Amino acid sequence: MNLFIYDNPAAWAAGIAELWSERLRSNPGLRQCLPTGKTPNSVYAEMAKRVKSGKTSFAESTGFLLDEFGGLSPEDPGSCNRMIRDELINHVDLPESSFHLLNAQSHDLEQTCREYDQKIGAPLDLVILGIGQNGHLGMNEPGSDIDSLTRKVELHPQTIQASARYLTHNNLPTWGVTLGLRQIFQAREVWLWANGASKAEILKQAISGPLTTDVPASLLQKHAHCTFFVDRVAASALVKFA
Ligand code: GLP
Repeated sequence: MNLFIYDNPAAWAAGIAELWSERLRSNPGLRQCLPTGKTPNSVYAEMAKRVKSGKTSFAESTGFLLDEFGGLSPEDPGSCNRMIRDELINHVDLPESSFHLLNAQSHDLEQTCREYDQKIGAPLDLVILGIGQNGHLGMNEPGSDIDSLTRKVELHPQTIQASARYLTHNNLPTWGVTLGLRQIFQAREVWLWANGASKAEILKQAISGPLTTDVPASLLQKHAHCTFFVDRVAASALVKFA
């Protein structure tokens, strides 16, 4: 596992965007999984700038959405579909036909999840993740099976509360659909992005704590090509590295 620490959030976003652009240059057909939440937005803004100025391109790449909240309209500003479109897809040159979302409104979620796994097929080139306050990856909450596939999941109370930050109403989602831990761990490369003081304690557990499904992010310690990208504030509890 690699750990990259940046001095401030601006350097963090610029540094990640530079490396992501490098991956797209060396492999234009990059098959990547994309997270939502607040964390990725500054990186996505950097990537949009780079696409506009011709410095990078998603034109030949493929994107898979990491997760989606249940019970929200796809147009709800708090849905992952809306967030990824508003923050990235609408501002870059990734063709609509190469962007795959998770339809949590499907009447047959089981089938939708199987089809998603089939669409992914071979291991992804790059899975990008944020981290929940309880160490969740996507919506793989504590206790998730390391071999889990794309599936419907019940959200942890802390995750339900955290979702209020994305919403303009009080109908907080209680479940979601997420890429499974199996696809995450099978990926050729995994990046975890985190910044800010609120992620410091869980990062300490994920990076230097025991490997346990109680903290799904800790399992990344055994992935052969995993990098944690953090800013100095988020790294503040990592005594060994500070
Ligand atoms: C959410 C999402 C995750 C996200 C994480 C952190 O619940 N399901 O995919 O990475 O929590 O979100 P944020 O970046 O807003 O802190």
